[in-house]
Amino acid sequence: MRRTHMAGELRPTHAGQRVTLAGWVHRSRDHGGVIFVDVRDRAGIVQVVFHPDTAADAFRVAETLRSEDVIAVTGTVQMRPADMVNPKLATGEVEVIAETVEVLNRSRTPPFVIRDEVKANEELRLKYRYLDLRRPRMQRNLHLRHRTIKFIRDWLDERGFWEVETPILIKSTPEGARDFLVPSRLQPGKFYALPQSPQQLKQLLMVAGVDRYFQIARCFRDEDLRGDRQPEFTQLDLEMAFVDEEDVIALNEALMIALAEAVVPQKRILQVPFPRLGYAEALERYGSDKPDLRFGLELVDVGHVWAETEFRVFRAVLAEGGAVKAVRAPGLATYSRKQIDELEALARQWGARGLAWVKVQEGGKLQGSVARFLGDGARTALLEATGAEPGDLVLMVAGAPELVADVLGRLRLEVGERLGLRDPDVLAFAWIVDFPLFEWDEEEGRWDAVHHPFTAPKDEDVQLLESDPGRVRAKAYDLVGNGWELAGGSVRIHRRDVQQRVFELLDISPERAQERFGHMLEAFEYGAPPHGGIAWGLDRVVMLFADEPNIREVIAFPKTASGVDVMTGAPGEVDPEQLAELHIRVVLPEPPADPGHSSRAEEGGK
Ligand code: AMO
Repeated sequence: MRRTHMAGELRPTHAGQRVTLAGWVHRSRDHGGVIFVDVRDRAGIVQVVFHPDTAADAFRVAETLRSEDVIAVTGTVQMRPADMVNPKLATGEVEVIAETVEVLNRSRTPPFVIRDEVKANEELRLKYRYLDLRRPRMQRNLHLRHRTIKFIRDWLDERGFWEVETPILIKSTPEGARDFLVPSRLQPGKFYALPQSPQQLKQLLMVAGVDRYFQIARCFRDEDLRGDRQPEFTQLDLEMAFVDEEDVIALNEALMIALAEAVVPQKRILQVPFPRLGYAEALERYGSDKPDLRFGLELVDVGHVWAETEFRVFRAVLAEGGAVKAVRAPGLATYSRKQIDELEALARQWGARGLAWVKVQEGGKLQGSVARFLGDGARTALLEATGAEPGDLVLMVAGAPELVADVLGRLRLEVGERLGLRDPDVLAFAWIVDFPLFEWDEEEGRWDAVHHPFTAPKDEDVQLLESDPGRVRAKAYDLVGNGWELAGGSVRIHRRDVQQRVFELLDISPERAQERFGHMLEAFEYGAPPHGGIAWGLDRVVMLFADEPNIREVIAFPKTASGVDVMTGAPGEVDPEQLAELHIRVVLPEPPADPGHSSRAEEGGK
């Protein structure tokens, strides 16, 4: 090895030792004849000192060093003088007195400084991702991700799970997104789909008697990207035979607790066992099926308050079957008009027609946009319903119930954020349960699966499949954490008759079912064990652990919001010969819809 120690590992216990380090020049400073070079490697940064008198050759080389040059340096570790200790650096108590230095490689001036504080624009960071990843924060994220996956593998192995790889070139498996397709050269006109998840394959592994399966599985979904979504992402995918909901929930809860304790011991899990919330209840109380439970400030229905008032806008909404709900913002009666206008702008951006508000003053008097419509009775009723006290601000939104829930749910998060209630050192996990099995698709005029078509109905609801499909609850569960949907899964249908009935309700004809899922249906005729499972969005779990607001920060080589890899230039054009071999003709849209997408392949003539 070209080195004896990692730069970032040096501590006072190394004082007096002769060491050789290898790494990058983080920073170089000339201090009146003495040159200080911060050497950085994966483990951290240490200060190396070059003296002209005692190491003349090394000093001459040091004079030429620039940021990101790669060097090997040999010298002796010594304690820094007390007034030179740098408490911000893990190695800050020591420094290395250089004797020799070798330049292993020179670097061009990097397009941005390799430092956590530097905010280069993201496009540039992604174009030079290999430089961006040198930043200590990114190294920390990569390491955290590694430790997370390693812990999961070991923990599941100890409990009898086998990791089985499933293919990437498969037949389309529905998870509700658009497929990425891969044209077949050998089968002209035919396409593989990339897996949106290994769902069907893991179920087939249960039929195969694998009993306990998991996989750190790459999944592909061609859907609109968001801060917590990538077109290719990683799941911890898991399936168990001979289980019911409680078994899957219990195992995953135990894994999450053990994992968090191991990799982010500085964080505190708010509540164990994880609380459970019905889907409808979550929407009602938090306006979201992935509520952030680190704080309260629940949504309250104040429709009854407004029904009795002269405020025509709200009364009209109520008359049309709409809702008026409120969220209390403790202490925010101090907000200026400008600050409230900011909140209103957000509410409008999220689809509300406006934001009504009142400030609660001493003695319970109200002041604000709609205060004059609230007589004494209504005022008391409002204070009672919301629990608002002097000094609080009450925000209210009226409209269609789903919209009100959504907008107020987001406002609740905004208020929580502004009040500092979203403590990054607290982990608030919860299970969302009692999902409906189906939702009505207005456009298509048929039922749609809320999860996927293999999700089992609750035993006690099976008979409702005939009479009232909308009321059938699923044996499905989501795990949420601090406002993120971290995982989702279900117990599966293992009986062919129930599966067939579900397909009928989803308006999937027997022929279509046969064509799409024939292999599953056939497999289920050869002794399928009862089984169930779950998949974690592993990237999101790492985001949560790393306190990163964006999924791209925890993926080594992510794509931009328009699905582009700006470093390699994917997606790119291909040679006409390659297209010919694949029996593909490209028909470009006119005019080009998005310059980021240079081509769109369509199934074409041979
Ligand atoms: P589901 O579709 O809910 O379930 O996915 C499971 C989890 O994967 C994460 N996730 C994503 N993460 C990043 N980018 C995306 N585009 C993305 N899409 C989903 C979420 C989600 O909770 N086969 C079923 C699981 C099962 O039933 O066992 C499935 O894939 O955190």
